[in-house]
Amino acid sequence: MSDSTAKRKRILTGDRPTGKLHLGHYVGTLANRVRLQEEYDVFLLVADYHMLTTRSGKDHILDVARNARELVFDYLSVGINPEKTTIYVQSLVPEVAEIFLLFSMLVTVPRLQRVPTLKEVMHDLHIENPSAGLLIYPVLQAADILLVRADLVPVGKDQESHIEVCREIARRFNQLYGPVFPEAEGLIGDVATLVGTYGKAKMSKSLNNAIFLSDDEETVRKKVMKMYTDPTRLRATDPGNVKGNPVFTYHDAFNPDVDEVDDLKARYLKGTVGDVEVKKKLITAINNFLEPVRARRAEYTAKPGLIDDIIQHGTEVVTREGRETVGLMREAMGMTYFKK
Ligand code: TRP
Repeated sequence: MSDSTAKRKRILTGDRPTGKLHLGHYVGTLANRVRLQEEYDVFLLVADYHMLTTRSGKDHILDVARNARELVFDYLSVGINPEKTTIYVQSLVPEVAEIFLLFSMLVTVPRLQRVPTLKEVMHDLHIENPSAGLLIYPVLQAADILLVRADLVPVGKDQESHIEVCREIARRFNQLYGPVFPEAEGLIGDVATLVGTYGKAKMSKSLNNAIFLSDDEETVRKKVMKMYTDPTRLRATDPGNVKGNPVFTYHDAFNPDVDEVDDLKARYLKGTVGDVEVKKKLITAINNFLEPVRARRAEYTAKPGLIDDIIQHGTEVVTREGRETVGLMREAMGMTYFKK
């Protein structure tokens, strides 16, 4: 590591491997991560243990395995550069579990019961009796973050309460045993959300309103042609609404030709352009945006084994960090009574 990289601030962030990523993920987090890797030391984790907190059957684990691989392909395809960002898999780093265990002593059960996401997940997934693992989900997340002693954690607003638990654990540890951990800060900014292809709800795989980063040209064409536009406009000659119209939201997000977008909007408002022309131009814009993404994906898929190498390397780097952190923890805690 050169001196300049040694001084960089550290970022840790990641995702549970729930499935293919879509344009909403790009707008919300991926574009930001691609930018951040230029300025920070970024660690990006595939949070597969977290997937077991709500379901632990073997069929589910097989889904997780497939999704984890897909997730890494998605990361690489949007331009997350494995030379700059350390990508790794949570369950491959044993120190995650060790730190998680030690941290679980530093937070009370009632405190964790008050974390709002617990109730939300129980409600959404109809879980009556949460596993102990689900209750201590935020503690596992704190172990992820503090294992690399991250300074910043860019996440969506829904994760804010977890970052707070992480900060409390860091504070508690430092207070009891001495200063080992930074109080990692959430970079919670306004994570942009992208509306789904049918308007109203945000883009989400489960709502079937998503355009995936891995969609081919023809799939993009079909999905855009089926998109909702302005429901109050019946004919192409009727003046239409641009605001809240998903087709224009996507033009704004993915069409770099601002003049073209302005012209389409002006004509739409006047009723001198049809939905088909607006959509055709959007198809071109999205496919142009996805072209380099597809090209990178093709490069990686053509070299099977490459992503395994990337993960193996990332995991080695993080395991080394984990050993160091566990060493510092044991030392600070006085858990050095026997030689290892
Ligand atoms: N809980 C996060 C989510 O569902 C995923 C995650 C796990 C994470 N560990 C993390 C995010 C550490 C940031 C930092 O999105």
